[in-house]
Amino acid sequence: FAGRQKCYSEGCLECSRRRNHHQPAILNSSSLRQVVESTRILEMWQNDLRPLLIERYPGSPGSYAARQHIMQRIQRLQADWVLEVDTFLSRTPYGYRSFSNIISTLNPTAKRHLVLACHYDSKYFPHWNNRMFVGATDSAVPCAMMLELARALDQQLLSLKNISDRRPDLSLKLIFFDGEEALFHWSPQDSLYGSRHLALKMASTPHPPGARGTNQLHGMDLLVLLDLLGAPNPTFPNFFPNTASWFNRLQAIEHELHELGFLKDHSLERKYFQDFGSGGIIQDDHIPFLRKGVPVLHLIPSPFPEVWHTMDDDEENLDESTIDNLNKILQVFVLEYLHL
Ligand SMILES: *[C@@H]1O[C@H](CO)[C@@H](O)[C@H](O)[C@H]1NC(C)=O
Ligand SMILES: [Zn+2]
Repeated sequence: FAGRQKCYSEGCLECSRRRNHHQPAILNSSSLRQVVESTRILEMWQNDLRPLLIERYPGSPGSYAARQHIMQRIQRLQADWVLEVDTFLSRTPYGYRSFSNIISTLNPTAKRHLVLACHYDSKYFPHWNNRMFVGATDSAVPCAMMLELARALDQQLLSLKNISDRRPDLSLKLIFFDGEEALFHWSPQDSLYGSRHLALKMASTPHPPGARGTNQLHGMDLLVLLDLLGAPNPTFPNFFPNTASWFNRLQAIEHELHELGFLKDHSLERKYFQDFGSGGIIQDDHIPFLRKGVPVLHLIPSPFPEVWHTMDDDEENLDESTIDNLNKILQVFVLEYLHL
């Protein structure tokens, strides 16, 4: 085991052991209370979520507005987020179309990043009875949760850059994918436009900058993909044995926050993070990364929300308590992962 290059090379056991042996720094109850008191569901609703509840299929005016919104919400924060827009053309059933992923990174030269991801595009449906599809759970809420996490943890994330005088080893990245949805019928060619593009691009981008033989995918410690969140009573199965210890952290955090009375309308009989495994893998933005060996936590409920891919996937059918509870769990998870 000699040096960083070797550590990041394919199949280096020492390297994957290091990544797999990363341990959380578990928060005590007074720190948990701080997290709970700092997250603000009503502010998130008004400032982050509402502006996303528009039609925003790839290339639409709403897609542009959603992108501007996401970037503006991040730019005003104090932590040093580096924003990139990854715009590309892809062949679709309707000819070549333009797509734009948004990537927001803290400490871009850190060796490793915890990555949170959502898709900001909405599925295209023709208008129906003067209604349009706004994809509230799919996936406006997950994107708003990521924005709220960045806001609520801004001071802690700001402190990442001051951890001793050297750069931190581990930091945070947010990815907002475009083109998750099929434009016509779901197929390997007509879906996951943004994530397929970005996984290839990251695989061919050296990381740390200037490195030979190691790329940005090696720097992804764990990809936490949020999808279809915001409906009442979600249950999440654990999809991947290699990240089970992180899934177990989510379970433990949910349990602890419940015991402390910090979750609203929540019962342990109907806890979110369940012990059952999943019946199979769900096609989603994690797939192109999973195929290239990136460890994944897929936070998608099973069964899907009842309103999935219907005009009823709107603001009215969202459950505020569930979203607030999930915000708290996710924020604690990220702080523990990053040792903040
Ligand atoms: C909880 O953890 C924080 C941060 O590590 C520490 O400052 C504080 O003293 C701890 N509180 C208790 C009650 O242990
Ligand atoms: Zn969808």
